[in-house]
Amino acid sequence: MKLRSGRLLTAPLPPIRQAVAHVVNLPGVSNLTIGDPAISVPQSVRLAGADAFLSGPHSYTPNLGLIELRRLVVKDLETRLGLTYGDDDICITNGGNQAITLAIAATTQPADGILMPSPGYPNFTMAAHFAGNTIETYDCSEDTQWLPTLHTLERAYRDDVSLLILNTPSNPTGAVMNPHQLAEIADWARFRNLWILSDECYWPYSDTGRFSIAQFAPERTYILDSFSKRFGFTGWRIGTLAAPRGEANKLLKGQEATVACISYPAQAAAMAAISDRTGHYEREYERFSAQRNQLVETLNSLGKTPAVGNGGIYAWANFSQVVDTTRNDWHLDLMKTANIAVVPGSAFGENAQQWGRLSAAINENDFALALERVRSI
Ligand SMILES: Cc1ncc(COP(=O)(O)O)c(C=O)c1O
Repeated sequence: MKLRSGRLLTAPLPPIRQAVAHVVNLPGVSNLTIGDPAISVPQSVRLAGADAFLSGPHSYTPNLGLIELRRLVVKDLETRLGLTYGDDDICITNGGNQAITLAIAATTQPADGILMPSPGYPNFTMAAHFAGNTIETYDCSEDTQWLPTLHTLERAYRDDVSLLILNTPSNPTGAVMNPHQLAEIADWARFRNLWILSDECYWPYSDTGRFSIAQFAPERTYILDSFSKRFGFTGWRIGTLAAPRGEANKLLKGQEATVACISYPAQAAAMAAISDRTGHYEREYERFSAQRNQLVETLNSLGKTPAVGNGGIYAWANFSQVVDTTRNDWHLDLMKTANIAVVPGSAFGENAQQWGRLSAAINENDFALALERVRSI
């Protein structure tokens, strides 16, 4: 028998990483590509991780994560969203990305459809490829003010769909769903009997309130949080998935089958970060939200690069009046003419060719220079 090709053969290469790869060796370019928030990580958090390496246990941790950390996550969800979870409803994951693959494995059969936003975070598509699911995109373009509607969801729905992925605030558009919209979609998901994966990893950077669809459909919603975006340690790989009551056993099995457990030092650092009460992180969220707003305002003030973004860490702008966006590599032209590296919209969906994503979560000096360059586009 011939050697078979696995399903990853036809999966796309990571499009954001590809855009990043173009700039790594180009000094002097303002790199607004990757969403790696330049949050300063407090010494107390670094020390908690370091201490765990030096004197903590170096054995396996529980599949769902350290109970002490899960308790802190339960408390956090209760405080910020008024939601009640048990310790065993929480799974500590290898970043938000692993939470996506676990949620898909817990809620779909191979070949089931997954509804996901377009434009949307490309890793949703990649995770569906990884799991062998089919992808059904719902429109989140300018036509729908960057948000899902009952109409676009219903249009994308097929009988084999078992999971709906929502992402608010959105990567890449920064659109944020309000409680009315969340309640409506929760009713629709109940009517269609779908699981929901609510990716809320940019919640700290929302100017318009912080809500979750789990407040309206707790029985079917998995909430994803990423400590990369929340606490700035993207490379330590830690996130969380809060499951509907009684469902986390599936995550436990998925954990054992993939990474087995999350490293103790990363969890120790996460405990210190989530327990921080100094206001440090809140100041960082305000700083990056203000930079995002400033970037959006500046782009709009040029009169030729309409931009949006009122949540998350990105500005999302239309570049069709300043470069030939019909070309697939138009972002390289922008890089040459304006010294700014962005992720082209095609990375996020077929309906976003003319748009580009700019990360505002960079350090102050780099941001000042980037803004100057944006002004002279
Ligand atoms: C929407 C969204 N979800 C999840 C993630 C996963 O982040 P991480 O795996 O670093 O926690 C990202 C990262 O960019 C993201 O943009």
